[in-house]
Amino acid sequence: MTATTSHIIPPHGGELVNLIAPSERSNELKAHSREWPSWDLTERQLCDLELLLSGGFSPLHGFMNPADYESVCHKMHLSSGLIWPMPITLDVKEEFAKTLTPGSSKVALRDPEGVMLAVLHVEEVWQPDRQEEAKSVFGTPSPVHPGVAYLLNRSHPWYVGGRLEGLQLPTHYDFRPLRRTPAELRAEFARLGWRRVVAFQTHNPMHRAHVELTLRAAKTVEANLLIHPVVGMTRLGDADYFTRVRCYQLLLHKYPQRTAELSLLPLAMRMGGPREAIWHALIGKNHGATHFIVGHDHAGPGYDSNGKPFYGPYDAQQLFKQYEAETGVTMVPFNMMVYLEGQDKYVPDDEVPNGARTLSISSSELRQRLSEGRDIPGWFTYPEVVKEVRRSSPPRHKQGVTIFFTGLSGSGKSTIANVLLTKFLETGGRPVTILDGDLVRKHLSSELGFSKEHRDINIRRIGYVASEITKNGGIAICAPIAPYDSVRKQVREMIQPVGGFILVHVDTPLEICEQRDRKGMYAKARAGIIKEFTGISDPYEAPKDAEVTINTAELSPEEAAQEIILHLEREGFIGVNNNGAA
Ligand code: PPS
Repeated sequence: MTATTSHIIPPHGGELVNLIAPSERSNELKAHSREWPSWDLTERQLCDLELLLSGGFSPLHGFMNPADYESVCHKMHLSSGLIWPMPITLDVKEEFAKTLTPGSSKVALRDPEGVMLAVLHVEEVWQPDRQEEAKSVFGTPSPVHPGVAYLLNRSHPWYVGGRLEGLQLPTHYDFRPLRRTPAELRAEFARLGWRRVVAFQTHNPMHRAHVELTLRAAKTVEANLLIHPVVGMTRLGDADYFTRVRCYQLLLHKYPQRTAELSLLPLAMRMGGPREAIWHALIGKNHGATHFIVGHDHAGPGYDSNGKPFYGPYDAQQLFKQYEAETGVTMVPFNMMVYLEGQDKYVPDDEVPNGARTLSISSSELRQRLSEGRDIPGWFTYPEVVKEVRRSSPPRHKQGVTIFFTGLSGSGKSTIANVLLTKFLETGGRPVTILDGDLVRKHLSSELGFSKEHRDINIRRIGYVASEITKNGGIAICAPIAPYDSVRKQVREMIQPVGGFILVHVDTPLEICEQRDRKGMYAKARAGIIKEFTGISDPYEAPKDAEVTINTAELSPEEAAQEIILHLEREGFIGVNNNGAA
């Protein structure tokens, strides 16, 4: 007897969207694709495409056109009137947008290896007001908000809307049995006879508080539990999903047998707080969840530049409550769980008896403890989880680190970088690589000149290599001029999630660099023989975010290297026991 899915909650909009074309059509599309322009999907677009194709974003059939986009931004509803809080758009470069003809162009959407995953039937092409989008969707234009930062700094300035036809879902080789599409999960629930399913969506490793919260939620609403962790894009600084998934797997036995399922969600989060909670619930519903847990600070983006949270801790619950009936999903709200010391149990903080002593560890404190190699108490999490988390978050003195110098030509970057290199080699331990400006230009960037565009490419290349070195536990010392703030910040963003990033500004005044003129370049630049020369005929944006600033007029190269070593020690990147680079 095959299980019927009729008792499973209907998807958003009534029908589960499946955009994968039948094989005949798919062959036809492939055959035509050589005539179409290709777009290489960004990491976020790849996630969005996967959920569009699989129906995780039902009722959407493609990337939004302006009517839906405007309506979603300003009214939180699709133009059809259905609730939908997050714009799902395909952002492209201006040059690419200009090649498209609305109504007739087709675009082959490809993964990073060039495999065509889908065809976009171009309906509308437009330049959105991204500031306005930030304000309406995230409630702020502040680029400190990670969703806004992505929108303003990383997304492309033009949008292309249109219907999609899919050839295949993006390929994943990891955790295959745990990656279930909405249709697969729904079929599974039907087979298991689950009618009421409460989804817990998370981008953190689960600790005792989370397990107790989910157990309580399932009991309260008498539902089975879907642990639905996000394995697409999450917040900068989150534990990598491989580690998280290993933790979730280790915890499954804490739930009564056959009451909990684990399935991975390839979602690119926006950290949009209240709107995001509603969006997540709709995605959960498409995967067969009838109930959705909204805890403290759901999908929170953190704090603004004044240290104030962008959203209140329970704003998401409030907004959800307002639209709960329209979503068709029942919210299971939870206050923050705290540990009741006397009773060795967790309770929501609004149920703490008067005068009772409670304990909690915030995620930033947890990160701090991990990076310093300090104890993680048993009341907070389980030993098997601590072991897993420690494997991927070793203490800082065992992590990789990039020391990124910036400064004018002749400021002394290379000399200090080389002193630092020898200091690290002297003490041994982590492998050290130097990426000096001149050497990089010779080996990695020989075809590049000194326009802003070329300098940015050069710095991104250095950043990429340094991030790989850092990720694998090494020390990268980079010493380019790196005159532009925005690309330096991009490099920081690339590296910080995988290890340490220390920006060192070698702040030698231009007059001194010019006096030294070791390579005779300033003289040539003044004479107009060398064009676009930094400091003379090209800008240098002094960093405001440097961890260490060095004026070589006051410090010898050795003293400067010592300043950096002291900083590394203070920040824990050099361990007390290993006396240097280990
Ligand atoms: S950048 O801006 O970071 O990409 O520059 P970088 O790769 O560090 O290269 C700087 C070295 O190239 C030499 N050089 C110039 N520098 C600046 N502007 C112009 N137009 C230029 N042309 C050649 C110069 O020797 C720099 O070396 P350093 O070691 O910094 O003195």
